[in-house]
Amino acid sequence: MGCHLNLNRQILITGATSAIGSALALQYAAPGACLILHGRKKDLLDQIASQCRALGAQVSSQQLDVRDTQALQAWLKNLPCLDLVIINAGMNTHIGPQGQAEPWDEVDALIDVNLKASMLIAQSVLPTMRERGRGQIAFMSSLAGYFGLPVTPAYSASKAGVKAYAEALRGWLAPEGIRVNVIMPGYVKSPMCDAMPGPKPWVWTPARAAATIRRGLDKDRPRISFPFPLNWGTWWLAVLPAAWSHRIVRWLGYGA
Ligand SMILES: NC(=O)c1ccc[n+]([C@@H]2O[C@H](COP(=O)([O-])OP(=O)(O)OC[C@H]3O[C@@H](n4cnc5c(N)ncnc54)[C@H](OP(=O)(O)O)[C@@H]3O)[C@@H](O)[C@H]2O)c1
Repeated sequence: MGCHLNLNRQILITGATSAIGSALALQYAAPGACLILHGRKKDLLDQIASQCRALGAQVSSQQLDVRDTQALQAWLKNLPCLDLVIINAGMNTHIGPQGQAEPWDEVDALIDVNLKASMLIAQSVLPTMRERGRGQIAFMSSLAGYFGLPVTPAYSASKAGVKAYAEALRGWLAPEGIRVNVIMPGYVKSPMCDAMPGPKPWVWTPARAAATIRRGLDKDRPRISFPFPLNWGTWWLAVLPAAWSHRIVRWLGYGA
């Protein structure tokens, strides 16, 4: 790995080959940072790693499907003393144009990747953090976690699960000095965002999203949600009587 005996700040980012993950890697790439970048696409992983090295960071990378839980656990077990872990890798699926159900194999994979792998990664890095009494874990949820969007039922469910899990971990681990944050982006330009049906107001660039996420993590904000006013509006969907929220969602064009 090369990072083990390093006194630099150790930062693990999963899904670093993605739009948001790459932007986060670049955001943290600087002298004094030791980045551990993860993804599946080797060419993209190599590309982002060399961009980060050019900015002065030490970089190691790992190519791995997070659905391979044995390989995931074995890899994480050999990564002691992480200061920051950003669990960003994720996938999406949606109902068909004629209202067909989401393909089950995609739903199955999505729950594995978005929810179960996120929990497993957190569980795997926690022991060394708890031993040291410090560390930070950031979970990538979504504004879709506030209220289920009719076109993306499984994605909404997974991101609501990630949000609840991160909140629970924060409450559990704060007394031990471990910081846990949940990130809830709105639309950020990416292949995933492009493939999603429905209106996409206030699309941010990955770089802008990464800068906002970093500021929120530096301040240890429990919830880092953006952009205003979409974060404010979706928060209301969770608070209003459900019948009103359903009507608003339909009226905004997110109906099936
Ligand atoms: N873009 C948005 O509008 C938006 C909004 C809210 C939340 N988010 C969340 O932000 C995160 C990043 O999204 P993005 O838009 O940047 O996505 P993206 O460009 O589609 O990239 C997804 C990332 O997840 C990785 N990944 C997917 N399945 C994987 C698997 N089985 N094993 C290992 N890695 C896997 C991909 O790796 P490879 O490409 O190397 O396979 C890639 O790095 C996701 O969790 C997403 O749900 C995005």
